[in-house]
Amino acid sequence: MRLDKFLTHTGTLTRKQASAAAKAGKLCVNGMIVKRSDTHIDPERDEITYNGDIISYQKYTYIMLNKPSGVVSATNDPDQKTVIDLLPETLQKIHLFPCGRLDKDTLGLVILTNDGASAHNQLSPKKHAEKEYMFHCLRPLTPHACEQLEQGVFLSDGYKTKPCKIKIEQPTKGIITLTEGKYHQIKRMFETIDNQILLLERISFAGIALDPSLPRGAWRPLSSEEEATFTKNSGITNESLKHEIGSKIEFEE
Ligand code: URA
Repeated sequence: MRLDKFLTHTGTLTRKQASAAAKAGKLCVNGMIVKRSDTHIDPERDEITYNGDIISYQKYTYIMLNKPSGVVSATNDPDQKTVIDLLPETLQKIHLFPCGRLDKDTLGLVILTNDGASAHNQLSPKKHAEKEYMFHCLRPLTPHACEQLEQGVFLSDGYKTKPCKIKIEQPTKGIITLTEGKYHQIKRMFETIDNQILLLERISFAGIALDPSLPRGAWRPLSSEEEATFTKNSGITNESLKHEIGSKIEFEE
């Protein structure tokens, strides 16, 4: 693999920055300064440093983002700000995509990755991955309405939602846990009980909690524990995934 590719792949530098860093003597391979960013390296064996810091090889990247309102969960959009636009330039170039979608006005946890197989696995309906959302609604939730939502309700298109869990914290505030993700699901569920969602924030996804110290609009890499949770039991490789459904991977929640 070329050194500049390695550096863009790990989200360290853009190709242009890598070339400049090499010329400035800031890049070393196994302790030796390399002046050309097209130098061939073995990412599994060679030790690469930039400004003296070791850049560890990662095949895939996993990012936790605290999505603000007004940003769409897409990789590109001609008119609107996307979750990818919230990342630095280096991370915008490594083909990350959001694992599942949140509405434009929904806040909170979005995991971005370029590991299609693990994302596919987490989003698979068979996996029943839990997604927790904090909600504020317009009218107080009665125990009867809560029970209806928990047992499953018929949405306007005739789909019956799967059983879910609701924890009421205040009359118009609580936490709802779903194991599926249909389009505008929570908003549409609340419409069936003559209520309305005023605010929605995803606070966890598949056992990974939104970091409370992460400001709105900010991101950080997943920790190694979170990464292990996300990639666990994928049971499918990225190669077989490509073979199965082509290079375009659709994740429609
Ligand atoms: N349900 C919704 O209605 N919107 C979201 O963004 C997520 C779940």
